[in-house]
Amino acid sequence: MKSREIHLTAYPKTEPTAANFKMAETDIGSPGEGEVLVANKFLSVDPYMRGRMSGVRTYVDPFALDAVMDGGAVGQVVESHNPKFKEGDWVNSMHGWREAYISDGAGLNKIDTTHIAPEDYLGIAGLTGMTAYVGLKRCIDLQAGESIWVSAGAGAVGSAAIQFAKAMGAKVVATAGGQDKVEYCLSIGADAAVDYKAVDRLDKAVAEANGGGVNAYFENVGGTHWTAALEVLKPKGRIAACGMIQRYNDPGAKITDNLTYIVGKSLRIQGFIVSDHFDLLPAFIGDLGKWMAEGKVKPRNTIVEGIENMPDAFLGLFSGANTGKMLVKV
Ligand SMILES: NC(=O)c1ccc[n+]([C@@H]2O[C@H](COP(=O)([O-])OP(=O)(O)OC[C@H]3O[C@@H](n4cnc5c(N)ncnc54)[C@H](OP(=O)(O)O)[C@@H]3O)[C@@H](O)[C@H]2O)c1
Repeated sequence: MKSREIHLTAYPKTEPTAANFKMAETDIGSPGEGEVLVANKFLSVDPYMRGRMSGVRTYVDPFALDAVMDGGAVGQVVESHNPKFKEGDWVNSMHGWREAYISDGAGLNKIDTTHIAPEDYLGIAGLTGMTAYVGLKRCIDLQAGESIWVSAGAGAVGSAAIQFAKAMGAKVVATAGGQDKVEYCLSIGADAAVDYKAVDRLDKAVAEANGGGVNAYFENVGGTHWTAALEVLKPKGRIAACGMIQRYNDPGAKITDNLTYIVGKSLRIQGFIVSDHFDLLPAFIGDLGKWMAEGKVKPRNTIVEGIENMPDAFLGLFSGANTGKMLVKV
């Protein structure tokens, strides 16, 4: 059987372009004894993949050049010679950036699509949601009645963090790029939202929108946002350092010069990688199920059609093309 897949052709130094990717077609054969054939239905593109395009190992290996890339994917079993799977089963895997694959079942997780749509296992009900949960629960230890600023609030992790923080009883101020995204943040429960592209002083705009300083900051952006956060945090404020997308294409960008606030305000900063916190998975699943049943949390995805458009979907993360989770429908 033939499967189309996306390869990385070069490690970009700054902003990647469509020229860094190419589509290939591979004969993946047919499943043998103990194997399954899976047709991917939805593929995930994520900012962390940019770090894997540097040719250097960070907390995860770089993508190999001129070979199929990997990443989150959900698909359906179309042929099974493995007793653990049957035709029609939905599975979650890391075999993304391709239409189909053959597996012996290792690393495939069956997903229950009764109450959660398959694609949401790549978004709010998957690692994206879990990331927001870990940042709020473990890194910040957010308490009811506290105020929190969530950056990239209209993105995948950010929109989950807004909704979860509200469900935990916190007051939320969000930032996002553009008025449509501001409206979206407000529609999912943010008490206030600021278009960071439309203000001169982000710290002042956030403090004004919130009615004063914040107790906590959920960091998705870095750079200008990090600088503003150190200004606007109250004493004993906490930061969940989740990501710094502003630097991913510009590693030489200036780092803030107001770090002394960390001392003066007794700030606590906790960086994290979601996969180091899987012990929180049962708590996440329990809270998410409850919040969804109560109507407090709603998924939102931006879906790009066609595997051939996957590089554009990925590049769109850096120009703000998505609201909610950016996905590709195969
Ligand atoms: N620590 C972990 O384990 C973990 C796991 C998952 C994700 N992350 C991190 O969490 C963050 C959000 O990831 P996500 O998957 O939810 O992506 P996302 O927020 O859905 O997409 C990225 C968003 O970032 C904003 N953005 C892009 N370039 C920007 C820039 N130069 N300046 C300001 N904003 C910019 C855009 O929103 P606007 O239009 O609002 O600018 C864009 O829509 C990323 O930093 C990612 O690396 C960390």
